[in-house]
Amino acid sequence: MDLTLKIWRQKNASAKGKFETYQLKGISPDSSFLEMLDILNQQLIDDNIATPVCFDHDCREGICGMCGLYINGRPHGPDTAVTTCQLHMRKFKDGDTIVIEPWRAKPFPIIRDLVVDRSAFDKIMQAGGYVSVNTGGVPDANAIPIPKRNADTAMDAAACIGCGACVASCKNASAMLFVAAKVSQYANLPQGKVEAKERVKNMVKAMDELGFGNCTNTGACEAECPKEISLSHIARLNREFFVAKIV
Ligand code: SF4
Ligand code: FES
Repeated sequence: MDLTLKIWRQKNASAKGKFETYQLKGISPDSSFLEMLDILNQQLIDDNIATPVCFDHDCREGICGMCGLYINGRPHGPDTAVTTCQLHMRKFKDGDTIVIEPWRAKPFPIIRDLVVDRSAFDKIMQAGGYVSVNTGGVPDANAIPIPKRNADTAMDAAACIGCGACVASCKNASAMLFVAAKVSQYANLPQGKVEAKERVKNMVKAMDELGFGNCTNTGACEAECPKEISLSHIARLNREFFVAKIV
């Protein structure tokens, strides 16, 4: 496949960024999107065209949440329920022009090129995304009967990889789907109930203080989430928050 890439280049958070255009030839449709970027970077180095394009990645298996890119106007690109690292070039056509941008959201400042600082998510997790009470060992956990419906809901919520696509896709840069997934994961399990009220209050407070916007129910986050986290978790978050505030 021959491709034209329009890629956002920006030296640092305060520098002015702009799109640069690069041509790539002979890309295999079986390459992953990140492999395609690796090939581009090798070409930029070998031909002394430009410094390599910086982009984030780690597992390349769809589980770490590092690799978010805005591709042709969609977080993680044109495929549904896949991360950028799991996207393959067969989803594009020979001769295509592909526009690649970083996440665009105030709480995720650009570090360089396509890399953004998502430590705001870490701060939300530090505010309550953990269980600090003694829950015993593995045999204890297995001895506690949990209704299947609750276990399934908690597991669905736990699928969130913290990639930030929900924030990037939201016109308000809301982190509600991410926070909802974390709150819902714990709220559905007995181990998480001990600290449930403090958790939801602290995580929502951190989310607001870090500059994320409000949810206005557009559903863009659910549509673009690579792990198909359901909006129903936001309903759960709202219920948990309401109860924590009044009781
Ligand atoms: S809710 Fe979905 S889009 Fe948002 S951080 Fe989690 S996995 Fe990514
Ligand atoms: S590199 Fe880990 S999810 Fe994509």
